[in-house]
Amino acid sequence: MTTDYMGAFMDLRRGGWAQEVDAELRPSQGAVPQGLAGTLYRNGAGNHLSDYVIDGDGLVSAVTFTPGGPVRVRSRYVRTPSYRASLKAPGADAPPVRLAGANAAGGRLRNLLLRPAASQASTSVAMIDGRLLALWEGDMPWELEPGTLETLGRCDLDRALAPSGLLGRRLGSPYSAHPCWDPRTAETWNFGCVYGPRPRLNIYRTAQGGPTEKRRSIALPHRYMVHDFAMTATHLVFCLGPVILDLPAVASGRVPAFEAMRWHGEEATRILIVPRAGGPFRVVEADPWFQWHFAGAYDDGDDIVLDLARFRSWTVMHEAISSMGHLTDPSCFPVGRLWRYRVTASGKVEDHQLNALPMEWPTIDPRRSTTAHRNVYGATIGTPASGVAFTAVARYDTELGEADVHDYGPGHLVSEPLFVPRDRKRLDEQGWLVAYEAQLTAGTTNIVVFDAQSVADGPVCTLPVPESLGFTFHGQWVNA
Ligand SMILES: [Fe+2]
Repeated sequence: MTTDYMGAFMDLRRGGWAQEVDAELRPSQGAVPQGLAGTLYRNGAGNHLSDYVIDGDGLVSAVTFTPGGPVRVRSRYVRTPSYRASLKAPGADAPPVRLAGANAAGGRLRNLLLRPAASQASTSVAMIDGRLLALWEGDMPWELEPGTLETLGRCDLDRALAPSGLLGRRLGSPYSAHPCWDPRTAETWNFGCVYGPRPRLNIYRTAQGGPTEKRRSIALPHRYMVHDFAMTATHLVFCLGPVILDLPAVASGRVPAFEAMRWHGEEATRILIVPRAGGPFRVVEADPWFQWHFAGAYDDGDDIVLDLARFRSWTVMHEAISSMGHLTDPSCFPVGRLWRYRVTASGKVEDHQLNALPMEWPTIDPRRSTTAHRNVYGATIGTPASGVAFTAVARYDTELGEADVHDYGPGHLVSEPLFVPRDRKRLDEQGWLVAYEAQLTAGTTNIVVFDAQSVADGPVCTLPVPESLGFTFHGQWVNA
């Protein structure tokens, strides 16, 4: 069985590109909620350059809600070298640049001479210290003009990402696509993994009003793949699952970076806990698992509590994301579920699955980042007939243990939903969820708005876009 989802991906792999758009939107259903004022920024793959779902040039979109005014959407590709090369060779059998999931055309010798992967600046977009940044974990950010989305260039964040020396400045240091914001201190923290001969985890802090500074650099025992982290009011937490880069395999030009990520199931997942105030870090070991994403984390007395979308291992995940175009058995697709981990002061790890609901792209009210949260939002699989696609938007209430789901059904693909509070000054659960819903047959995107407390009732507003906004991964709501 091949689902519509897979069919759509196969079409995209044959050279389909989402076109840049600049349009005024009108609801096809419902009405834009009064009080919804701001811009939803999202980023993702606007084209597909290999079988890997992540290999696509970054298409950033901005949907601006103005009270009493029209809703406007704009999308622009990030003008990276990968994008420019892709434009010159549309639909090529092998990519013109080396990607995370596919080597460049030209054989092993050419790939030996290339960087392990060229940035597509396609994973997320975030406003940090007044700069709109397209993020991709293997590179420095790319700065965009917030209104027009025109590319301004690579951004070294006040030189924090520009190591000394000519080569260092040219290459820059990586900055992950998952920065963490603390609403209490208005700081943004983030990290970057360096996979050289001496693997390191660099940690960065951006104060309110800047600048960004490198706070510390921690030597790692292995070249872990680290995609996201969690932050409490006092600590940064990195869950280092045993997905480890085989550096010789990728450095020799033999395989692309994602092919060289190996699962070492005999190893522990190491939970690295780093005090924000400085001082010694600690490492706690647990049975291995793999996660892409955290929903949130908080201090509970001296314990640290983490909610994350957990997978049993990397192996099945890798097989699935490397063959999206010809995955024929949806039941083979790995499904993450929401788990809660508690790390006690004495180093004991307690864990349990919060709910059987499959979930990815988990998010919370950003005002509760670093403190306790009640609701987790995410994308889920609605019904077995939906196959492997994320066809449904979900809210999971961690206090009641109840899920609140709206399923669009086969042929639809929903994005990560983002919470927008109804009243910014009132810290309650009232608000909206804003998300994209891809119409896979039509090849277009709908902007959808849900009442965050009654997702199952369906969207309160649907705004059709006359184009596809790509396969988006992450984004951010920025208040007007
Ligand atoms: Fe991510």
